[in-house]
Amino acid sequence: MRDLISIGDLTRGDAEELLRIAGVLKSELEEALSIGRRPTPHLNGKSLAMIFEKPSLRTRCSFEIGMFQLGGHAVNLAASEIGRLGQRESIRDLARNLDRWVQIIQARVFSHAGVLELAREAHSPVINGLSDFEHPTQIMADYLTIKEQRGSLDGLKMAWIGDSNNVAQSHMVMACLFGTRLTLAIPEGYDPPAAIWEVCERVSSKSHELVKIVRDPREAVADADVLYTDTWVSMGQEEETERRRKAFAGYQINDALVAAAPAHAFVLHDMPAHRGEEITDSVLDGPRCRAYDQAENRMHAIKAILCWCLGVRV
Ligand code: NVA
Repeated sequence: MRDLISIGDLTRGDAEELLRIAGVLKSELEEALSIGRRPTPHLNGKSLAMIFEKPSLRTRCSFEIGMFQLGGHAVNLAASEIGRLGQRESIRDLARNLDRWVQIIQARVFSHAGVLELAREAHSPVINGLSDFEHPTQIMADYLTIKEQRGSLDGLKMAWIGDSNNVAQSHMVMACLFGTRLTLAIPEGYDPPAAIWEVCERVSSKSHELVKIVRDPREAVADADVLYTDTWVSMGQEEETERRRKAFAGYQINDALVAAAPAHAFVLHDMPAHRGEEITDSVLDGPRCRAYDQAENRMHAIKAILCWCLGVRV
């Protein structure tokens, strides 16, 4: 049984195994739905607790529907019910109680330290469903999507446009794991923190060759296979909205930026998207966008993570 708190917790072999399981579960589901059957109940009778300190659409649907498809059950624990982590009761007591009812826990939290403490205190595996530092389940879905689109992850080149947030930081670590050349176009003053570089350096001695920071989005996309963006204002940063809108104004994926990328390049966005800010309608609704495949793959990737964390062979 294992936790998944950071992409840095994985070896490359682990990540490849997760992608393999996700592919198997996706095919099993397609086949089961096509013949009107329930898919194989790999997690028969198991229960998941879902802690959400922040809103969620894709993560919530992926965990809850995923558990149902795997023959298990999910219970939702919103902050409006159980309070923020550590507020209504200690994280230790929360963990000790949950351990008596469920076999696995997912937590979307404001503070990365909170999900780390939960993982230390709980005997059940804990999955980070987004913190202010990383978003590992998203990155597994992104690589699943890229593998499907491109056929292989070898020699991958990615351009990240905008904020160096939780999603970008998990991508930095994943790039080090897979040898991906990741160029992040980020305005001055918003560079990734030293703490994520430390994770990258632990994962690969080539981290500074693989992951580059530039200021010009056109430079980042020039030879990229994948263009990626995310909101300029992550959950919890709402009071910085005006300052961030100004700082990121030149960091939009629009038709002109897509035209500056190779003809085969496609666009990803983890969503929710802010149409007209970090991405235009024309790109999000256009032929190069794979964001909805990516959203679907959240569920397949999360089902794989659930099985893998619980040590269930697929
Ligand atoms: N960076 C975004 C991701 C949302 C799924 C946030 O943290 O709000």
